[in-house]
Amino acid sequence: MCRKNKSHEHYFSSAPKSNDRFGTIHASLRGRTFEFLTSSSVFSKKKIDLGTHVLIDAMVLPQKGFVLDIGCGYGAVGITAAAFSPQLHVVMTDVNMRAVQLARQNLAGNRIGNAEVRYGSLYEPVLGLYFDCVLSNPPVSAGMDTVKAIIEGAPRVMATGGSFQMVIRSKIGTKSLPETFCGAFGDCEILARESGYRVLMGKLFI
Ligand SMILES: C[S@@+](CC[C@H](N)C(=O)[O-])C[C@H]1O[C@@H](n2cnc3c(N)ncnc32)[C@H](O)[C@@H]1O
Repeated sequence: MCRKNKSHEHYFSSAPKSNDRFGTIHASLRGRTFEFLTSSSVFSKKKIDLGTHVLIDAMVLPQKGFVLDIGCGYGAVGITAAAFSPQLHVVMTDVNMRAVQLARQNLAGNRIGNAEVRYGSLYEPVLGLYFDCVLSNPPVSAGMDTVKAIIEGAPRVMATGGSFQMVIRSKIGTKSLPETFCGAFGDCEILARESGYRVLMGKLFI
């Protein structure tokens, strides 16, 4: 189902026109409490999405190195990763400028110093960087072409030995997404199955 706000804007509009209607979410994620500022025209503005929770619980983080949260929204995944592993540097990106601004405010609000937020589509904002881990709760409402572009584009920005981890509803792309992972990485592992979601993982070995 598409998630639009009352002004019929998608959560992935690049420059939302709706008036900001701010809210605050308090959430316990991997045993730590966070506060997130949210607003209209961003994904899951009233509470942390169930798929986001599943990804955060399942994600396997390197001890050090670079992590990318592609499509970060207001920042729950990347901020939790950065808080959990202070030796990481986390880059968070989104195509929605309002989400980017909220994620920056949430970095400051949660006193996270080892992360940054960049604006732009797909991997364009991070070309030239190489990540040890890429995390994605993809914008399914934007269409499967975008979801597949996120999977297929990941190897270009990954370090050898790095992992790509994506959460997706179990009933979405049941066969086609593992096939897309196999095309990009040669394999597809199921890292977790929880509450109607799967976390799929591919590793880059070359
Ligand atoms: C399902 S939401 C997940 C947000 C956040 N990671 C979370 O779990 O709460 C997907 C996000 O991807 C962003 N997005 C949509 N199309 C994108 C694109 N082409 N490049 C980067 N981000 C995109 C949307 O704006 C949205 O914030």
